[in-house]
Amino acid sequence: EELKKEILEYTAHTQEDLENFRQKFISRKGVITDLMKGMKDIAPEIRKDVGILFNDVKNTAQERFQELIDKIDEQSNGSEQNSEIDFSLPPIPDTLGSEHPLNTVKSRIIEIFERIGFNLSEGPEVEDDWHNFTALNFPPNHPAREMQDTFFIEKDPDIALRTHTSSVQVRIMENQKPPIRTLSPGKVYRNEAISARAHCMFHQVEGLYIDKNVSFADLKQTLLHFVREFFGKDTKIRLRPSYFPFTEPSAEVDISCNICGGKGCNICKYTGYVEIGGCGMVDPNVLKSAGIDPEEYTGFAFGMGIERMAMLKYQINDLRLFTENDIRFLKQFSGIS
Ligand code: PHE
Repeated sequence: EELKKEILEYTAHTQEDLENFRQKFISRKGVITDLMKGMKDIAPEIRKDVGILFNDVKNTAQERFQELIDKIDEQSNGSEQNSEIDFSLPPIPDTLGSEHPLNTVKSRIIEIFERIGFNLSEGPEVEDDWHNFTALNFPPNHPAREMQDTFFIEKDPDIALRTHTSSVQVRIMENQKPPIRTLSPGKVYRNEAISARAHCMFHQVEGLYIDKNVSFADLKQTLLHFVREFFGKDTKIRLRPSYFPFTEPSAEVDISCNICGGKGCNICKYTGYVEIGGCGMVDPNVLKSAGIDPEEYTGFAFGMGIERMAMLKYQINDLRLFTENDIRFLKQFSGIS
């Protein structure tokens, strides 16, 4: 009777109280289990009555336990309702990240070229001298091979971080037969001091088209199509004669400044045009190095900086922003395409 009273008078305010009750009365190590264990020592003639009593206590304990659980549940629900939460406040903002602007720009470039029949190719960032320089017709003492431009990893044989993705095109030419129409985006490395306009690591996308009778007019029209799709249909193109060891003739690719519409602003230094990359007809020596007959095939190549395209498209004035991972910069690009 006393035990029953104790059970019925037990109150619980916290989970801890509840757990104490459980340990004392319900668990296998509790007092009721002890009583049950003692049954065998009780005289057989009263054992039955005692058993009924013990069972009663056991049931009482279990019922009380459930009551206490219900009470505590009620209390905690009640306290939530009475708490200081203001349900009229806007929800906690979505903290999902957004795509990096360079990835968005890269995907857009790929999409435009895929629609005119270019496929994608990739290659290693650590390259040998052959794929990065020699097969691309770099003369032995060309300044680009020198230490100030290239990160060499090993000397003799030279292994370096690729300085352009033209190396991927060498690999493609060596392994595939024309017609070849491929686009190679990727990271490139140059030993330059980091500033608003230069970085030791940036991204390029290069295109290569090799077939019978590919002409400079095809090159210019392909580039024009691309810049109109990417920067807008009024964009104009200007090719300036230039020099690259792997193309002949070679040209620098300028587009009409999309910020001032060609009227002149400080982005285009009041010239109305900005440079986006280089291009040219693949040098016969390059075709020969890769085992393609220059009498039968001709081709064009072009290369553009992805950071540069992003900077022009979104008016970003500092190259370093792309790698600093400043959330305030990155989140401005959520939802763009
Ligand atoms: N590979 C050149 C560079 O990195 C760009 C280029 C590519 C120029 C293809 C012409 C043709 O500067």
